[in-house]
Amino acid sequence: MSHIDRDPVKFAYWVPNVSGGLVISNIEQRTSWTIEYNRKLAQIAEASGFEYALSQIRFTAGYGAEFQHESVAFSHALLESTTTLKVIAALLPGPWNPALAAKQIATINHLTNGRVAVNVVSGWFRGEFHAIGEHWLDHDERYRRSEEFIRALRGIWTQDSFTFRGDFYRFSDYSLKPKPLDPQPEIFQGGSSRAARDMASRVSDWYFTNGNTPEEIRKQVNDIQGKAEANGHSVRVGVNAFAIVRETEEEAKAVLAEIIEKANPDAVNAFGHEVKNAGKASPEGEGNWAKSSFEDLVQYNDGFRSNLIGTPQQVAERIVDLKRAGADLILLGFLHFQEEVEYFGKHVIPLVRELEQAASTQAIAAE
Ligand SMILES: Cc1cc2nc3c(=O)[nH]c(=O)nc-3n(C[C@H](O)[C@H](O)[C@H](O)COP(=O)(O)O)c2cc1C
Repeated sequence: MSHIDRDPVKFAYWVPNVSGGLVISNIEQRTSWTIEYNRKLAQIAEASGFEYALSQIRFTAGYGAEFQHESVAFSHALLESTTTLKVIAALLPGPWNPALAAKQIATINHLTNGRVAVNVVSGWFRGEFHAIGEHWLDHDERYRRSEEFIRALRGIWTQDSFTFRGDFYRFSDYSLKPKPLDPQPEIFQGGSSRAARDMASRVSDWYFTNGNTPEEIRKQVNDIQGKAEANGHSVRVGVNAFAIVRETEEEAKAVLAEIIEKANPDAVNAFGHEVKNAGKASPEGEGNWAKSSFEDLVQYNDGFRSNLIGTPQQVAERIVDLKRAGADLILLGFLHFQEEVEYFGKHVIPLVRELEQAASTQAIAAE
């Protein structure tokens, strides 16, 4: 099956549960990190064709995200305000241990009819770990811990008398009751380094990666899916993008230029320093942000690189290109979330569906 014949590409949005929006810039952002704003946004998103919302976990931040609501509690509030949206709560091994996380998520799973998922993040910000008294493990050790965390979550959720002897976590004859409803909560992970990809090919349901071109996404997809197959595992791929969709390409590009022109250089450089250091500490000396320029770093997960900046037609075509490269889900950030999520649902998603339909009809005709 070619990549384009798969299920319709899914859409997720970043929950702005931290202040400052999704770009490190002083440009006006009609986005708020409050619960009132976010409840309404979640309702708009589910009515606009978004299947998932991803909330963020942050304890401190040096790049403008000065206020941060905790991810699991916030995700639960959004689930209570919606009926179909799935909300992905971020968990950071270290502050969370798998016993607490498994129980907390199992309860939310029951309260919300199975709509909660998790994103296991491995950490990139040494200053944050120091601030909260957490050991800063080496890069690959962080992933070794995350993998044990995910194995423990799954074991607790699916087995009675769960026993596990890891280097980071231990369980003896533990039976969680009640277990989550079937299907089990989906487990996402973020990160693009060698260790991140290898972990995805062994244990995660979903691999989230930073924004990138279809060619670069394809390389990652081939790598992790080739390995996953050899491991008898299957994993899907979500790609980050910062969308600027306007009636004309000129308008969209002008917004991008203004975001960059009004970027906060000290905050962007401080963020770039931290994330590049975090990646350099991996054995291959690379991480999510190894090739990011100053402009790229203004969107803190390289969202401009996916180039969803233009007219609805251009953006829809590029989404289909990302899907061809192996993306199953597009994770979106916006400048003015409520209004742009609605616009995206009205003007872009229907075009994506038309293009997917046309591509699959062509594929059948060619058989
Ligand atoms: C889509 C996505 C969401 C992420 N969310 C968070 C988050 O909420 N909190 C956090 O501390 N790190 C988050 N991360 C960072 C990753 O967990 C990881 O630490 C980072 O991408 C570095 O990965 P690497 O060392 O494999 O390159 C996220 C990454 C991605 C791609």
